[in-house]
Amino acid sequence: MATAELASWVQEADPGRFPYDAVVREYQRVGKHFVSKELLDRLTAVRDRLPMMHGPWPEVRALASFLDTALDKPDGRYDYPTYLALSMLELPGLDEPVATAPFARSRCDRLSVQLIADALDFELAALDGLSMRLSELRPSRDLAVKRCKHGLRAVLPALTRMSLARGVTSEDHVDRARQMRSLVRADMAIAERRAMDLSILPVYVSHDEYMFLRVLQTFETTFVLLTMHLRAAIDALSGRRADEAVHFLNGAEDSLRESAPLFSMLATMQIESFRTFREFTEGASAIQSRGYKLVEALCRTPDRERAESPAFHSVPEIHARLAGGHPNLDDTYREVRDSGDLGPAECARVGAAMSTFASALHRWRGTHYRLAVRMLGEATGTGYTEGTPYLAAVRDIPVFHQVSPADNEATVRSR
Ligand code: HEM
Repeated sequence: MATAELASWVQEADPGRFPYDAVVREYQRVGKHFVSKELLDRLTAVRDRLPMMHGPWPEVRALASFLDTALDKPDGRYDYPTYLALSMLELPGLDEPVATAPFARSRCDRLSVQLIADALDFELAALDGLSMRLSELRPSRDLAVKRCKHGLRAVLPALTRMSLARGVTSEDHVDRARQMRSLVRADMAIAERRAMDLSILPVYVSHDEYMFLRVLQTFETTFVLLTMHLRAAIDALSGRRADEAVHFLNGAEDSLRESAPLFSMLATMQIESFRTFREFTEGASAIQSRGYKLVEALCRTPDRERAESPAFHSVPEIHARLAGGHPNLDDTYREVRDSGDLGPAECARVGAAMSTFASALHRWRGTHYRLAVRMLGEATGTGYTEGTPYLAAVRDIPVFHQVSPADNEATVRSR
């Protein structure tokens, strides 16, 4: 079907009329890992024609991004960013001007809410028997209800900021998810809907992989937001604007804390399902998350052992930045404190905000570690580490040298 539609599209080759729906349907019918050679060859031929293609530039660019994601496996380029189809999501860039930081939250709120609304829409369609997409190992109703509950919890603060939460009135988790989904859909622009439709190419046909992808994409959105807030905090601190630095640090801490229910949502993933589809995700691991590693590098310069380990070798762009003496909060805080330009009370306020952020990051690592142990057991990671022993070894790495986390280690671990 997809090949037939492509064959007829090629006559005109109008990028604005590319048969995205048919191609995505076929990818979701068999899983990205199992797409036929015939379809892959046709898509490769389309990509070869991109430089000669006429049509509005945004349409050509959208098609190029889509093919970048769709052809990662046959190209041998498959990794975490292409698995997550990050180029389709129009996330804020990692180098956007710091001046845009005050608007980053509303952009990221929108995207996070849309991603989770779509994840719940998928759950609801399966629950109502309305969809045959990714039909292997459907979850029980109880699991689906939990997904609705935690998914909603994760985006409720963002929904409130978007003035959409008032429409979520039901007491029942499933009905609340339905209300949320309808409100978010009605609020979406056409381009946003298309981004949602094209950013979900699971490698296999397990139902739960859909949620896995959407949760990872939402976390990536949070990491990008953190990078914006941390960069703005560094900028403010360098300019001796303590209140502004505290404001952005608190914003970063809020975002990380608000994302916690996403782990509860993901914990409803069926282990059997995860272990099946991860056979086809080898080579794509969040160890390759540029956003997460940039957050780490914005906090402080990683110790040499960490910088020269798979942690940073898996993200060459971020590793390269370290060589140039990357600005970070730890160094900036020390420099400002030692300069005497800020009074002790202002320094203490900034230090306290850094400390609270460090606690939130430690908690994130602890929750991630426990989830990984539960889902993975003794298995190795898909990022070519030994798996959870890697995570155990890195979870206590200090976020800052100049300040300690607000909670002591024992408190963090017992949560
Ligand atoms: C089923 C759930 C999960 C499992 C089993 C899991 C497992 C792992 C493992 C084994 C690693 C080590 C690297 C490797 O070899 O792959 C890792 C790293 C990582 N994971 Fe997860 N993970 C899960 C969910 C998540 C989620 C939802 C996120 C959010 C984006 C995430 C973010 C990360 C990050 C950022 C790293 C790199 C940590 C570092 O290098 O210090 N993981 N994960």
